[in-house]
Amino acid sequence: MIYSLKFVDQFSTTSLINKNKPEGFTQANWSSAYCNVEEECKNVKLKLIKGSIPQNLNGVLYRNGPGRLERNEHWVHHPFDGDGMIVSITFNNGDVSLSNRFVRTKEWEEEEKEGKFLYRGVFGTKKTGSKLSNAFDIRLKNIANTNVIKLGDELLALWEAAGPHALDPITLETKGLSNLNGALKDKEAFSAHPRFDPGHHQESRMVTFSVSTGPKSTIRLMEFATQGANVGDLLCDRKDSFNGFAFLHDFAITPNWAIFLQNAIEFNPLPFLLGQKGAAQCLKSKQNGQAKFWLIPRDPGRFSKQPSKIFNAPNGFVFHHLNAFEAENKVIIESIFYQDFPSIGPEEDFRKIDFNKLPEGILKRCTIDLLTNKISEEVLSNQCCEFAMVNPKLQGKDAKYSWMAIAEKLTGNGPLQAIKKINLLNKDSCRWSAAPRGFVGEPIMIPIKNSNIEDDGWVLTLIWNSETKKTELVILKANDLSHQATLEIPIIIPYGLHGSWVNSDSRY
Ligand code: CO
Repeated sequence: MIYSLKFVDQFSTTSLINKNKPEGFTQANWSSAYCNVEEECKNVKLKLIKGSIPQNLNGVLYRNGPGRLERNEHWVHHPFDGDGMIVSITFNNGDVSLSNRFVRTKEWEEEEKEGKFLYRGVFGTKKTGSKLSNAFDIRLKNIANTNVIKLGDELLALWEAAGPHALDPITLETKGLSNLNGALKDKEAFSAHPRFDPGHHQESRMVTFSVSTGPKSTIRLMEFATQGANVGDLLCDRKDSFNGFAFLHDFAITPNWAIFLQNAIEFNPLPFLLGQKGAAQCLKSKQNGQAKFWLIPRDPGRFSKQPSKIFNAPNGFVFHHLNAFEAENKVIIESIFYQDFPSIGPEEDFRKIDFNKLPEGILKRCTIDLLTNKISEEVLSNQCCEFAMVNPKLQGKDAKYSWMAIAEKLTGNGPLQAIKKINLLNKDSCRWSAAPRGFVGEPIMIPIKNSNIEDDGWVLTLIWNSETKKTELVILKANDLSHQATLEIPIIIPYGLHGSWVNSDSRY
């Protein structure tokens, strides 16, 4: 196995973090997870290095993230520009095995053949060649790296600015771009953040959206069957237009509403057109701008076919929502707010990023009163967090608990090093930490199938153990985050984005 670890030494003693604070890890510890994945494994059994594997955990953890970060010594400008590599970890009565495979997008195949970047990245990666060669090249490379979900017999690798790639759920082989049985138009963008309605209207559904934006933004809200003979079929489809530009990465659902937050940001396309910046680097907060909540009635709900509603939203920037629910005439949405849009400038190296200069993610609850139009907000957790989820059976309902990745330090931004469970009612919490030299990824909470106890289940996360230079899979008990098992992963997996769990006999 050959790993590209050459950059590790580059930062060995010049830690930006250790210079100021005795946090027990160096910048190199953190950044050493960023390297190319050089090997594709097929059903490799994972070695248990600590604890024991729960026998009643049967299914597959799928996870997506950038796996190709460098070509011919040319690095991506931001890890979000790295090509999608899917990992599947299969649990079978105590045996755990791993497969991984790059999504064979058309652009990945071309770049593999040429051995260099032929396309610009949305987050600022330039294609190999002169500065001029980047100007006016506005082709998008579908990097399929943000999420992976199962719909019917197909696994879908998602990237929000283009269509999904269909994969074989067992071999992870790429079948090609999918239009979801004709539901999507050619080149239609498709969100990487579907929400799974656990059955508020009898049957479970996948609710998702596409967005086209400009001076006006149009959201296409779609609901797909996730079970039964018509699995994968498009059941509901509506379009709503709103004023202004929108950058929508995520949304939330309740039984009756789909809720979007339009951040107060603007897009200046000029540096993108001139080849100086990636499209996402051309976003910036709008001075004196007003963020908005957009509430779109869901077709199976009580307000079907009625017009959408608009409310003012608190200041700040939101990528991810935790959950939403309804109470009397109120809609409540919980989201991770940053003070500003975090971007990596054209001259900065993402591996040298100074966390102290980044805004932290704060979990807030906003209550929208549909009768008075008043919005109230409450901080649920001040500690920098990301990747928060509730028990999937409570998606759209008033969940009591949430699981999330957090920074080790109590205030300010920092790399994600611990998993936190919070009681959303009284804010009690417990945590499991991989610090000082471990770094966590998105936690996936898996409920025990027939249990009615909300926090009965497991939490899985991949961690980067910078001491041993290995990726590990950690299994925690969901109710108290007690450590159950650590398994060694045979390849290095860079920090990734989102994933999902599929029970061996159904979704949940
Ligand atoms: Co996301």
